[in-house]
Amino acid sequence: MFKRKKNKDNYQLDMNNIPAHIAFIMDGNGRWAKKRKMPRTYGHNEGTKTIRNIALEANKLGVKAMTVYAFSTENFSRPDDEVQFIFRLPKTFFDLYLKELMDNNVRICYIGHLNRAPQATQEIIQAAIDQTKNNTGLQLCFAFIYGGRDEIVEATKKIATSLKEGKITENDITEDYFEQHLMTASLPPVDLMVRTSGEQRLSNFLLWQLAYAEFIFTPVYWPDFNAEELHKAIWMYQNRDRRFGGLK
Ligand code: IPE
Ligand code: IPE
Ligand code: MG
Repeated sequence: MFKRKKNKDNYQLDMNNIPAHIAFIMDGNGRWAKKRKMPRTYGHNEGTKTIRNIALEANKLGVKAMTVYAFSTENFSRPDDEVQFIFRLPKTFFDLYLKELMDNNVRICYIGHLNRAPQATQEIIQAAIDQTKNNTGLQLCFAFIYGGRDEIVEATKKIATSLKEGKITENDITEDYFEQHLMTASLPPVDLMVRTSGEQRLSNFLLWQLAYAEFIFTPVYWPDFNAEELHKAIWMYQNRDRRFGGLK
């Protein structure tokens, strides 16, 4: 039985085929601001509103997890004032929206190297994780100081230690076992990856997890990405033929 949701836009969604986990490369904040003759930081600030809007809409649609790429391990190479500004954004975001996210049963989670962030940023993020830990709705996962290659290396180190200590043998190292050592171990497999701003690359995001995800690249800058764009992305996903190497 098909259950369809009639949205205000043209994208009628099959509610039985909502992607469980959507990963977003939130790109284009700087160009969005530049177009308005504003500093790049204005775009980053605006982008936080999009995270709130998309998380609430995804939650409503029954998406189980949404991972947002907020700061890559490579983003440290940006000017210091921009990096410092981005590190203050979790406070801006959670001051404005944590209560609302809590009321909507959203659970905050994190992947990356939180210990490389300033102490105050660490505390804000940790508090949001703690406060929402019993929520059962959408898991909103921040990839912040995150790099896909780094994540794979970190997982490999943990496994190497277990091997060295004799807790496992080589044959225990399967794909499933490896996956359990990734930072995303508690999240469902990524079904859909959306990158905004027109760039068509992964920029070191979820390298392992995206092996069989569907990719959507949209020219829309992240601050302009809205509920209709989300519906469109999910609608496109629902019209893809996922074969996982098999035949159909
Ligand atoms: C994405 O927007 C946000 C971060 C990388 C933190 P950008 O800052 O990369 O914006 P553009 O790509 O320069 O427009
Ligand atoms: C990817 O965007 C990282 C985030 C969105 C956080 P970038 O803007 O850093 O990627 P490149 O430099 O264009 O590849
Ligand atoms: Mg960019």
